[in-house]
Amino acid sequence: MEKLKYVKPTKEYEKKALDYVQEFLDYNSKINGVGGLHRFLDDYDGWLKKLEEDRIIKASEEKVPAETFFLIRESDDMIVGMINIRLALNEHLKKFGGHIGYSIRPTERQKGYNTINLYLGLLCCQHHGIKDVLIDCSKSNFASAKTIKALGGNLLKEEYNEEADDIIQDYVIDVDKSIEENKELFSLYISENSLTKIK
Ligand SMILES: CC(C)(COP(=O)(O)OP(=O)(O)OC[C@H]1O[C@@H](n2cnc3c(N)ncnc32)[C@H](O)[C@@H]1OP(=O)(O)O)[C@@H](O)C(=O)NCCC(=O)NCCS
Repeated sequence: MEKLKYVKPTKEYEKKALDYVQEFLDYNSKINGVGGLHRFLDDYDGWLKKLEEDRIIKASEEKVPAETFFLIRESDDMIVGMINIRLALNEHLKKFGGHIGYSIRPTERQKGYNTINLYLGLLCCQHHGIKDVLIDCSKSNFASAKTIKALGGNLLKEEYNEEADDIIQDYVIDVDKSIEENKELFSLYISENSLTKIK
């Protein structure tokens, strides 16, 4: 498989980032993990500024600090996925949303990229001292549920959620355990400088 890495969004990725979101619109696909980029399609600089603020904001019921990364395929520098990692949980995120939202662009799905995306996400969580990651997903989102289970996610509960108007599954991943168990396999697929990019 191709090597992947995280890159923090910068001005030089503007065209590629807009192209990423456009593909979801073209394919009428659910957008997730983009740190609100789809609301800033005509203000990329404003989005970069928002991401800077997101990183340092104090956790409250309104907002929590978060990191957003592009998942980049090293061979052609394409944005194949994105992830938004909430570094703290408020009551709302505990009920719906959890620590992580992610996506893989429609034309690059089913290549195993999202499991790498989540593995890198867990490394970022470990760096920030998060021990147990809460991730939720719609019961019918088999690809997301399989990603979470592949990284050792345990199903905590499954119930109807009013905000999502859907049956939502809550999973928890023991970060240190998952990284330890998957390190050998996943280190083959992440580029050498991935760790420094996360910090
Ligand atoms: C969820 C999503 C990120 C998965 O991306 P992906 O590139 O297909 O994921 P992967 O290729 O890494 O596959 C992960 C697992 O899901 C399985 N899978 C992928 N697509 C599937 C599908 N349509 N049906 C069933 N299983 C599927 C894969 O086989 C793999 O399982 P395995 O490890 O047992 O083989 C992608 O579908 C997406 O971006 N969806 C829109 C946004 C979204 O729903 N985000 C999640 C919100 S909770």
